Amino acid sequence: MNRLDVSLLPHLLDGVDLRQLATHVPTPFYAYSANAIRGRVSELQDALQGLDYRVCYAVKANPTAAVLQLMAEQGVGADIVSVGEMQRSLRAGIPADRIVFSGVGKTADEIAAALEAGVWRFNVESVDELDMLQAVAARMGVQARASVRINPDVDAGTHEKISTGKSENKFGVAIDEAREWFASAASRPEVRLDGLHMHIGSQILSLAPFREALHCMRTFHDELVAQGHVIACIDLGGGLGVAYRPEDQPVAVADYAALIREVFAGFGGTLVLEPGRHLVAEAGVLVTRVIRIKHGLDRSFLVLDAAMNDLLRPSLYEAWHEIVPLHDEPRPRVRYDVVGPVCETGDTFARARPMPACATGDLVRIGNAGAYGASMGSTYNSRPLIAEVMLDSGRYAVVRRRQTLDEMIAGEQLPGQWHEA
Ligand code: LLP
Repeated sequence: MNRLDVSLLPHLLDGVDLRQLATHVPTPFYAYSANAIRGRVSELQDALQGLDYRVCYAVKANPTAAVLQLMAEQGVGADIVSVGEMQRSLRAGIPADRIVFSGVGKTADEIAAALEAGVWRFNVESVDELDMLQAVAARMGVQARASVRINPDVDAGTHEKISTGKSENKFGVAIDEAREWFASAASRPEVRLDGLHMHIGSQILSLAPFREALHCMRTFHDELVAQGHVIACIDLGGGLGVAYRPEDQPVAVADYAALIREVFAGFGGTLVLEPGRHLVAEAGVLVTRVIRIKHGLDRSFLVLDAAMNDLLRPSLYEAWHEIVPLHDEPRPRVRYDVVGPVCETGDTFARARPMPACATGDLVRIGNAGAYGASMGSTYNSRPLIAEVMLDSGRYAVVRRRQTLDEMIAGEQLPGQWHEA
Protein backbone atom coordinates (compact mmCIF):
# COMPACT_ATOMS: atom_id res chain seq x y z
CA MET A 1 0.00 0.00 0.00
CA ASN A 2 1.31 3.44 -0.86
CA ARG A 3 1.76 5.33 2.41
CA LEU A 4 2.18 8.65 0.60
CA ASP A 5 -1.26 8.40 -1.01
CA VAL A 6 -2.78 7.61 2.35
CA SER A 7 -1.41 10.72 3.98
CA LEU A 8 -2.40 12.97 1.05
CA LEU A 9 -5.92 11.60 0.67
CA PRO A 10 -6.77 10.17 4.07
CA HIS A 11 -10.47 9.89 3.26
CA LEU A 12 -9.80 7.43 0.42
CA LEU A 13 -9.25 3.72 0.93
CA ASP A 14 -9.37 1.18 -1.91
CA GLY A 15 -11.27 3.68 -4.08
CA VAL A 16 -13.93 4.32 -1.44
CA ASP A 17 -14.53 7.75 0.11
CA LEU A 18 -14.74 6.99 3.83
CA ARG A 19 -16.84 10.11 4.37
CA GLN A 20 -19.44 8.78 1.94
CA LEU A 21 -19.24 5.38 3.52
CA ALA A 22 -19.97 6.92 6.93
CA THR A 23 -23.29 8.17 5.56
CA HIS A 24 -24.29 4.52 4.99
CA VAL A 25 -22.60 2.80 7.92
CA PRO A 26 -22.84 4.37 11.39
CA THR A 27 -19.55 5.04 13.14
CA PRO A 28 -17.49 3.61 14.64
CA PHE A 29 -16.58 0.90 12.14
CA TYR A 30 -13.55 -0.89 10.77
CA ALA A 31 -12.87 -0.67 7.03
CA TYR A 32 -10.44 -3.02 5.28
CA SER A 33 -8.95 -2.70 1.82
CA ALA A 34 -9.22 -6.03 -0.01
CA ASN A 35 -6.60 -4.91 -2.51
CA ALA A 36 -4.13 -3.99 0.21
CA ILE A 37 -4.51 -7.48 1.73
CA ARG A 38 -4.18 -9.16 -1.67
CA GLY A 39 -1.12 -7.03 -2.37
CA ARG A 40 0.58 -8.03 0.86
CA VAL A 41 -0.11 -11.72 0.26
CA SER A 42 1.16 -11.69 -3.31
CA GLU A 43 4.25 -9.68 -2.38
CA LEU A 44 5.17 -12.38 0.12
CA GLN A 45 4.32 -15.21 -2.28
CA ASP A 46 6.40 -13.61 -5.03
CA ALA A 47 9.36 -13.21 -2.69
CA LEU A 48 9.21 -16.91 -1.76
CA GLN A 49 8.71 -18.19 -5.30
CA GLY A 50 10.70 -21.31 -6.10
CA LEU A 51 10.87 -22.43 -2.47
CA ASP A 52 8.76 -25.29 -1.09
CA TYR A 53 6.76 -23.05 1.25
CA ARG A 54 3.37 -22.52 2.79
CA VAL A 55 2.01 -19.26 4.20
CA CYS A 56 -0.32 -19.94 7.13
CA TYR A 57 -2.08 -16.71 8.10
CA ALA A 58 -2.23 -16.15 11.87
CA VAL A 59 -6.01 -15.99 12.24
CA LYS A 60 -5.82 -14.17 15.58
CA ALA A 61 -4.78 -10.98 13.78
CA ASN A 62 -8.16 -10.67 12.10
CA PRO A 63 -10.53 -13.66 12.00
CA THR A 64 -13.41 -12.04 10.12
CA ALA A 65 -14.82 -14.47 7.53
CA ALA A 66 -14.34 -12.03 4.65
CA VAL A 67 -10.65 -11.64 5.52
CA LEU A 68 -10.18 -15.40 5.82
CA GLN A 69 -11.92 -15.85 2.47
CA LEU A 70 -9.40 -13.49 0.83
CA MET A 71 -6.64 -15.66 2.28
CA ALA A 72 -8.31 -18.86 1.02
CA GLU A 73 -8.67 -17.36 -2.47
CA GLN A 74 -4.93 -16.77 -2.62
CA GLY A 75 -4.05 -20.27 -1.44
CA VAL A 76 -3.02 -19.14 2.04
CA GLY A 77 -3.45 -21.57 4.96
CA ALA A 78 -4.09 -20.79 8.61
CA ASP A 79 -2.17 -20.74 11.87
CA ILE A 80 -4.76 -21.30 14.58
CA VAL A 81 -4.69 -21.27 18.37
CA SER A 82 -8.19 -22.52 19.15
CA VAL A 83 -10.93 -24.69 17.73
CA GLY A 84 -12.92 -21.51 17.18
CA GLU A 85 -10.21 -20.26 14.83
CA MET A 86 -10.15 -23.68 13.15
CA GLN A 87 -13.87 -23.62 12.53
CA ARG A 88 -13.76 -20.09 11.17
CA SER A 89 -10.92 -21.07 8.81
CA LEU A 90 -12.68 -24.20 7.55
CA ARG A 91 -15.93 -22.32 6.99
CA ALA A 92 -14.06 -19.66 5.01
CA GLY A 93 -12.72 -22.34 2.67
CA ILE A 94 -9.20 -22.88 4.04
CA PRO A 95 -8.59 -26.63 3.69
CA ALA A 96 -7.73 -28.57 6.86
CA ASP A 97 -4.46 -29.75 5.34
CA ARG A 98 -3.26 -26.14 5.28
CA ILE A 99 -3.94 -25.52 8.96
CA VAL A 100 -1.31 -25.59 11.71
CA PHE A 101 -2.41 -25.62 15.34
CA SER A 102 -0.23 -23.57 17.73
CA GLY A 103 -0.62 -22.50 21.36
CA VAL A 104 0.45 -23.55 24.85
CA GLY A 105 -2.95 -24.53 26.16
CA LYS A 106 -4.52 -26.97 23.73
CA THR A 107 -7.01 -29.15 25.57
CA ALA A 108 -7.70 -32.83 24.87
CA ASP A 109 -11.05 -31.87 23.35
CA GLU A 110 -9.44 -29.30 21.07
CA ILE A 111 -6.77 -31.79 19.99
CA ALA A 112 -9.46 -34.38 19.23
CA ALA A 113 -11.49 -31.88 17.21
CA ALA A 114 -8.43 -30.87 15.21
CA LEU A 115 -7.47 -34.50 14.53
CA GLU A 116 -11.04 -35.21 13.51
CA ALA A 117 -10.97 -32.28 11.08
CA GLY A 118 -7.61 -33.47 9.71
CA VAL A 119 -5.46 -30.41 10.39
CA TRP A 120 -2.03 -30.56 8.81
CA ARG A 121 0.11 -30.43 11.97
CA PHE A 122 0.39 -29.47 15.61
CA ASN A 123 3.05 -27.09 16.88
CA VAL A 124 3.68 -28.69 20.27
CA GLU A 125 4.84 -26.52 23.14
CA SER A 126 5.41 -28.85 26.13
CA VAL A 127 6.04 -32.51 26.92
CA ASP A 128 2.68 -32.64 28.67
CA GLU A 129 1.00 -31.57 25.43
CA LEU A 130 3.08 -34.08 23.45
CA ASP A 131 1.90 -36.88 25.74
CA MET A 132 -1.67 -35.66 25.43
CA LEU A 133 -1.41 -35.59 21.64
CA GLN A 134 -0.08 -39.17 21.69
CA ALA A 135 -2.90 -40.31 23.99
CA VAL A 136 -5.69 -38.65 22.01
CA ALA A 137 -4.33 -39.84 18.65
CA ALA A 138 -3.96 -43.39 20.00
CA ARG A 139 -7.54 -43.34 21.29
CA MET A 140 -8.77 -42.16 17.89
CA GLY A 141 -6.57 -44.60 15.98
CA VAL A 142 -4.85 -41.92 13.92
CA GLN A 143 -1.35 -40.53 13.63
CA ALA A 144 -0.76 -36.84 14.37
CA ARG A 145 1.92 -34.79 12.66
CA ALA A 146 3.82 -32.61 15.05
CA SER A 147 6.51 -29.97 15.14
CA VAL A 148 8.30 -29.06 18.33
CA ARG A 149 8.16 -25.36 19.11
CA ILE A 150 11.67 -24.31 19.97
CA ASN A 151 12.21 -21.33 22.22
CA PRO A 152 15.44 -19.99 20.71
CA ASP A 153 15.94 -17.47 23.55
CA VAL A 154 16.20 -14.57 21.13
CA ASP A 155 15.33 -11.00 22.04
CA ALA A 156 13.16 -9.71 19.20
CA GLY A 157 13.42 -6.14 20.48
CA THR A 158 9.66 -5.74 20.62
CA HIS A 159 7.15 -4.81 23.33
CA GLU A 160 7.49 -7.15 26.32
CA LYS A 161 3.84 -8.21 26.06
CA ILE A 162 4.28 -9.44 22.47
CA SER A 163 7.73 -11.02 22.79
CA THR A 164 7.46 -14.82 22.56
CA GLY A 165 10.93 -16.24 21.93
CA LYS A 166 12.83 -15.49 25.14
CA SER A 167 13.47 -18.25 27.66
CA GLU A 168 11.37 -16.40 30.27
CA ASN A 169 8.30 -16.50 27.95
CA LYS A 170 5.75 -19.28 28.29
CA PHE A 171 6.22 -20.47 24.72
CA GLY A 172 8.10 -23.44 23.30
CA VAL A 173 10.82 -25.61 24.81
CA ALA A 174 14.61 -25.33 25.02
CA ILE A 175 16.69 -27.16 22.43
CA ASP A 176 17.93 -29.62 25.06
CA GLU A 177 14.38 -30.69 25.76
CA ALA A 178 13.51 -30.90 22.05
CA ARG A 179 16.53 -33.17 21.58
CA GLU A 180 15.03 -35.57 24.14
CA TRP A 181 11.67 -35.55 22.35
CA PHE A 182 13.33 -36.68 19.13
CA ALA A 183 15.44 -39.27 20.97
CA SER A 184 12.31 -40.78 22.53
CA ALA A 185 10.06 -40.38 19.46
CA ALA A 186 9.69 -44.16 19.06
CA SER A 187 7.86 -44.31 22.39
CA ARG A 188 5.08 -42.17 20.89
CA PRO A 189 4.14 -44.04 17.70
CA GLU A 190 0.92 -42.09 17.12
CA VAL A 191 2.84 -38.83 16.86
CA ARG A 192 4.99 -38.28 13.80
CA LEU A 193 7.45 -35.74 15.16
CA ASP A 194 9.04 -34.43 11.98
CA GLY A 195 8.97 -30.66 12.23
CA LEU A 196 10.51 -27.66 13.94
CA HIS A 197 8.64 -24.51 14.83
CA MET A 198 9.53 -21.17 16.36
CA HIS A 199 7.88 -17.82 16.95
CA ILE A 200 10.05 -15.11 18.43
CA GLY A 201 7.60 -12.25 18.78
CA SER A 202 5.42 -9.82 16.95
CA GLN A 203 5.98 -6.37 15.39
CA ILE A 204 9.67 -7.07 14.72
CA LEU A 205 11.37 -4.21 12.88
CA SER A 206 14.86 -5.60 12.41
CA LEU A 207 16.29 -8.55 10.52
CA ALA A 208 18.89 -9.30 13.21
CA PRO A 209 16.66 -11.35 15.58
CA PHE A 210 15.32 -13.33 12.62
CA ARG A 211 18.90 -14.06 11.52
CA GLU A 212 19.85 -15.28 14.98
CA ALA A 213 16.76 -17.46 15.37
CA LEU A 214 16.93 -18.90 11.84
CA HIS A 215 20.57 -19.89 12.29
CA CYS A 216 19.66 -21.53 15.58
CA MET A 217 16.93 -23.56 13.81
CA ARG A 218 19.23 -24.54 10.95
CA THR A 219 21.95 -25.73 13.30
CA PHE A 220 19.50 -27.83 15.28
CA HIS A 221 17.97 -29.17 12.06
CA ASP A 222 21.41 -30.26 10.80
CA GLU A 223 22.15 -31.98 14.11
CA LEU A 224 18.86 -33.91 13.98
CA VAL A 225 19.34 -34.93 10.36
CA ALA A 226 22.88 -36.13 11.13
CA GLN A 227 21.34 -38.36 13.79
CA GLY A 228 18.99 -39.84 11.20
CA HIS A 229 15.81 -37.91 12.01
CA VAL A 230 13.58 -36.77 9.17
CA ILE A 231 12.56 -33.10 9.29
CA ALA A 232 9.78 -32.49 6.79
CA CYS A 233 8.75 -29.03 7.90
CA ILE A 234 10.26 -25.95 9.48
CA ASP A 235 7.85 -23.24 10.61
CA LEU A 236 9.54 -19.85 10.86
CA GLY A 237 7.18 -17.79 12.96
CA GLY A 238 8.07 -14.31 14.07
CA GLY A 239 6.00 -11.42 12.99
CA LEU A 240 7.30 -8.94 10.46
CA GLY A 241 6.51 -5.51 11.84
CA VAL A 242 4.63 -2.76 10.06
CA ALA A 243 5.09 1.04 10.09
CA TYR A 244 2.77 2.37 12.77
CA ARG A 245 4.80 5.56 13.15
CA PRO A 246 5.99 7.47 10.09
CA GLU A 247 9.60 6.85 11.12
CA ASP A 248 9.22 3.06 11.54
CA GLN A 249 11.34 1.14 9.02
CA PRO A 250 9.85 -2.32 8.50
CA VAL A 251 12.02 -5.15 7.24
CA ALA A 252 11.73 -5.43 3.44
CA VAL A 253 10.01 -8.65 2.46
CA ALA A 254 12.69 -9.28 -0.18
CA ASP A 255 15.44 -9.08 2.47
CA TYR A 256 13.50 -11.42 4.77
CA ALA A 257 13.00 -13.92 1.93
CA ALA A 258 16.69 -13.66 0.95
CA LEU A 259 17.68 -14.48 4.53
CA ILE A 260 15.40 -17.53 4.54
CA ARG A 261 16.84 -18.73 1.22
CA GLU A 262 20.37 -18.27 2.48
CA VAL A 263 19.94 -20.00 5.85
CA PHE A 264 17.78 -22.86 4.55
CA ALA A 265 19.65 -23.49 1.31
CA GLY A 266 19.49 -27.21 0.59
CA PHE A 267 16.67 -27.94 3.06
CA GLY A 268 14.48 -30.61 1.47
CA GLY A 269 11.20 -30.04 3.37
CA THR A 270 8.46 -27.43 3.50
CA LEU A 271 9.09 -23.99 5.01
CA VAL A 272 6.11 -22.42 6.75
CA LEU A 273 5.55 -18.76 7.54
CA GLU A 274 2.72 -17.68 9.83
CA PRO A 275 2.32 -13.91 9.44
CA GLY A 276 -0.68 -12.12 10.84
CA ARG A 277 -0.09 -8.40 11.27
CA HIS A 278 2.05 -8.01 8.16
CA LEU A 279 -0.78 -9.16 5.90
CA VAL A 280 -3.64 -7.12 7.34
CA ALA A 281 -2.57 -4.29 9.69
CA GLU A 282 -2.02 -1.56 7.13
CA ALA A 283 -5.09 -2.59 5.15
CA GLY A 284 -7.44 -1.53 7.94
CA VAL A 285 -8.65 1.71 9.49
CA LEU A 286 -11.03 2.48 12.30
CA VAL A 287 -13.46 5.20 11.24
CA THR A 288 -14.84 7.14 14.18
CA ARG A 289 -16.58 10.43 14.86
CA VAL A 290 -15.85 13.24 17.28
CA ILE A 291 -18.57 13.28 19.93
CA ARG A 292 -17.28 16.41 21.64
CA ILE A 293 -14.25 18.45 22.49
CA LYS A 294 -13.72 18.96 26.16
CA HIS A 295 -11.36 21.63 27.43
CA GLY A 296 -9.62 20.66 30.64
CA LEU A 297 -7.41 22.84 32.79
CA ASP A 298 -4.24 22.26 30.83
CA ARG A 299 -5.32 20.15 27.85
CA SER A 300 -8.11 19.50 25.39
CA PHE A 301 -9.75 16.11 25.06
CA LEU A 302 -11.00 14.91 21.71
CA VAL A 303 -13.77 12.50 22.71
CA LEU A 304 -14.41 9.93 19.95
CA ASP A 305 -17.26 7.47 19.55
CA ALA A 306 -14.68 4.64 19.38
CA ALA A 307 -13.12 3.41 22.60
CA MET A 308 -10.64 0.96 24.08
CA ASN A 309 -13.17 -1.85 23.73
CA ASP A 310 -13.08 -1.32 19.94
CA LEU A 311 -9.30 -0.86 19.60
CA LEU A 312 -7.37 -2.00 22.65
CA ARG A 313 -3.78 -1.67 21.42
CA PRO A 314 -3.08 1.89 22.63
CA SER A 315 -4.42 1.09 26.11
CA LEU A 316 -2.75 -2.30 26.42
CA TYR A 317 0.64 -1.71 24.79
CA GLU A 318 0.80 2.09 24.61
CA ALA A 319 0.76 1.44 20.87
CA TRP A 320 0.98 4.47 18.59
CA HIS A 321 -1.62 4.69 15.79
CA GLU A 322 -1.92 7.48 13.26
CA ILE A 323 -5.03 9.59 13.93
CA VAL A 324 -6.17 11.74 11.03
CA PRO A 325 -9.29 13.92 10.73
CA LEU A 326 -11.11 13.47 7.42
CA HIS A 327 -12.15 17.06 6.84
CA ASP A 328 -10.78 18.91 3.83
CA GLU A 329 -10.51 22.53 4.86
CA PRO A 330 -7.27 23.74 6.45
CA ARG A 331 -7.49 24.12 10.23
CA PRO A 332 -4.89 25.27 12.77
CA ARG A 333 -2.81 22.57 14.40
CA VAL A 334 -3.57 21.89 18.04
CA ARG A 335 -2.78 19.14 20.57
CA TYR A 336 -5.39 16.75 21.83
CA ASP A 337 -5.59 13.91 24.26
CA VAL A 338 -7.61 11.58 22.05
CA VAL A 339 -9.94 9.49 24.19
CA GLY A 340 -13.01 7.27 24.03
CA PRO A 341 -16.18 7.31 26.13
CA VAL A 342 -15.28 4.31 28.33
CA CYS A 343 -15.11 5.07 32.02
CA GLU A 344 -11.43 4.61 32.70
CA THR A 345 -8.38 6.75 32.13
CA GLY A 346 -6.70 4.00 30.11
CA ASP A 347 -9.29 4.62 27.41
CA THR A 348 -6.84 6.89 25.62
CA PHE A 349 -5.74 6.56 21.99
CA ALA A 350 -3.08 9.28 22.16
CA ARG A 351 -1.79 11.96 24.53
CA ALA A 352 -0.94 15.52 23.48
CA ARG A 353 -1.15 14.47 19.82
CA PRO A 354 -0.53 17.38 17.42
CA MET A 355 -3.21 17.37 14.72
CA PRO A 356 -5.55 19.70 12.82
CA ALA A 357 -8.27 21.18 15.03
CA CYS A 358 -11.50 19.20 14.98
CA ALA A 359 -15.16 20.03 15.54
CA THR A 360 -18.02 17.98 16.95
CA GLY A 361 -19.27 15.57 14.31
CA ASP A 362 -15.99 15.40 12.36
CA LEU A 363 -14.86 12.04 11.09
CA VAL A 364 -11.47 10.74 12.15
CA ARG A 365 -9.57 7.71 10.94
CA ILE A 366 -7.29 5.68 13.14
CA GLY A 367 -4.77 3.98 10.90
CA ASN A 368 -3.09 0.58 10.74
CA ALA A 369 -5.98 -1.01 12.57
CA GLY A 370 -6.52 -4.09 10.42
CA ALA A 371 -4.62 -6.41 12.77
CA TYR A 372 -5.48 -6.99 16.43
CA GLY A 373 -8.20 -4.36 16.21
CA ALA A 374 -11.60 -6.01 15.74
CA SER A 375 -10.11 -9.32 16.90
CA MET A 376 -9.35 -7.89 20.35
CA GLY A 377 -12.63 -6.01 20.59
CA SER A 378 -14.93 -6.55 23.54
CA THR A 379 -18.27 -5.30 24.78
CA TYR A 380 -16.79 -3.57 27.83
CA ASN A 381 -19.12 -0.83 29.13
CA SER A 382 -21.90 -2.73 27.28
CA ARG A 383 -20.81 -1.31 23.97
CA PRO A 384 -21.83 -3.72 21.17
CA LEU A 385 -19.09 -5.01 18.82
CA ILE A 386 -18.75 -2.60 15.92
CA ALA A 387 -19.29 -3.16 12.19
CA GLU A 388 -16.58 -4.27 9.79
CA VAL A 389 -16.68 -3.25 6.15
CA MET A 390 -14.68 -4.69 3.23
CA LEU A 391 -13.69 -2.25 0.49
CA ASP A 392 -12.73 -3.42 -2.96
CA SER A 393 -11.94 -1.08 -5.87
CA GLY A 394 -14.58 1.55 -5.12
CA ARG A 395 -17.21 -0.83 -3.72
CA TYR A 396 -18.03 -1.73 -0.14
CA ALA A 397 -19.72 -4.60 1.66
CA VAL A 398 -20.61 -4.77 5.35
CA VAL A 399 -18.96 -8.05 6.34
CA ARG A 400 -19.93 -7.87 9.97
CA ARG A 401 -22.82 -5.73 11.00
CA ARG A 402 -22.82 -3.93 14.29
CA GLN A 403 -23.97 -6.20 17.10
CA THR A 404 -27.46 -5.55 18.40
CA LEU A 405 -28.23 -5.23 22.08
CA ASP A 406 -30.01 -8.60 21.97
CA GLU A 407 -26.98 -10.25 20.40
CA MET A 408 -24.73 -8.68 23.00
CA ILE A 409 -26.69 -10.12 25.89
CA ALA A 410 -27.66 -13.40 24.21
CA GLY A 411 -26.89 -16.28 26.53
CA GLU A 412 -27.49 -14.32 29.70
CA GLN A 413 -30.28 -15.44 31.98
CA LEU A 414 -31.46 -14.72 35.49
CA PRO A 415 -31.05 -17.59 37.97
CA GLY A 416 -34.55 -19.03 37.54
CA GLN A 417 -33.52 -22.48 38.65
CA TRP A 418 -30.73 -23.30 41.12
CA HIS A 419 -28.80 -26.62 41.03
CA GLU A 420 -26.96 -28.38 43.86
CA ALA A 421 -23.24 -28.31 43.03
N1 LLP B 1 2.07 -17.40 15.23
C1 LLP B 1 2.07 -17.47 16.57
C2 LLP B 1 2.33 -18.76 17.22
C3 LLP B 1 1.83 -16.31 17.33
O1 LLP B 1 1.86 -16.37 18.66
C4 LLP B 1 1.58 -15.08 16.67
C5 LLP B 1 1.29 -13.86 17.42
C6 LLP B 1 1.57 -15.07 15.25
C7 LLP B 1 1.84 -16.26 14.57
C8 LLP B 1 1.32 -13.83 14.45
O2 LLP B 1 2.26 -12.84 14.69
P1 LLP B 1 2.25 -11.52 13.79
O3 LLP B 1 2.66 -11.91 12.39
O4 LLP B 1 0.90 -10.98 13.79
O5 LLP B 1 3.24 -10.64 14.42
N2 LLP B 1 -2.12 -8.44 20.18
C9 LLP B 1 -0.74 -8.04 19.89
C10 LLP B 1 -0.02 -9.06 19.05
C11 LLP B 1 0.11 -10.41 19.72
C12 LLP B 1 0.75 -11.43 18.84
C13 LLP B 1 0.86 -12.74 19.52
N3 LLP B 1 1.25 -13.81 18.67
C14 LLP B 1 -0.76 -6.67 19.23
O6 LLP B 1 -1.82 -6.09 19.06
O7 LLP B 1 0.31 -6.14 18.90
